[in-house]
Amino acid sequence: MRKKLLLGNWKMNKTPSEAKAFALAAGEMVDLAVEHGIDVGVAPTFVCLEAVKSNINPKCIVAAQNVNEHEKGAYTGEISIAMLKEIGIDWVILGHSERREYNGETSVACNAKIKALLANDMTPVYCCGESEKTFDEGKTKDFVRHQIEEGFAGLSQEEAAKVVVAYEPIWAIGTGKSASKEIAEDTVGYIRLVLEGLFGGAIAEQIRILYGGSVKPENVSAYMSMPDIDGALVGGASLEPDSFLGLIKGML
Ligand code: PGA
Repeated sequence: MRKKLLLGNWKMNKTPSEAKAFALAAGEMVDLAVEHGIDVGVAPTFVCLEAVKSNINPKCIVAAQNVNEHEKGAYTGEISIAMLKEIGIDWVILGHSERREYNGETSVACNAKIKALLANDMTPVYCCGESEKTFDEGKTKDFVRHQIEEGFAGLSQEEAAKVVVAYEPIWAIGTGKSASKEIAEDTVGYIRLVLEGLFGGAIAEQIRILYGGSVKPENVSAYMSMPDIDGALVGGASLEPDSFLGLIKGML
């Protein structure tokens, strides 16, 4: 049985003091989620990680929004796995469509990061999803299959089972135009089939796959009612404690 997961992606929002205020306000709602068997987490910017980690309910996952795959060295502006580990961060979002679009992040680059994270007992949240043009052309499944195949290349079954996937159609991110639960389930179910082809049915059944794209307190329960959708990666609606609590309640 896969455990439900709610992960807030704060993107480039909140200063450290704002992030700390959220962390202090979120204590009870994290308990509520955990009591109901739901994993819950937030992904602040790098400069806010410590403020959140040291002030939030310790049961809350705190994730970074990116990491560099190299151990250390001449990579100006980058953050290493050791830096994250030292402040207690062991989850990292990878391959978000905004990083793919604005920072040239590829699935092949994500694959190297996934391997580096797994080698350090950390959890990657690997994002995939198609553009509106690809969706309109009916090429979503081919596109997403390619992203999954490249992102998971060379992983053992044991490693693959530890990766969390987030399916986020780009046309639904921050647009208010969420994918219907049927469309989301169709692609998420397909991703599970692709994973089954790569790693076998038993492993594919263990891998958590989230939906993301304009998830809100009002629509989260619809996604959670679908058999292959194990949770949500949420941007805008994860930024305020009230709304975050609404998401948790919608998942109960
Ligand atoms: P959104 O963002 O919930 O604001 O649409 C989702 C995401 O980009 O992870």
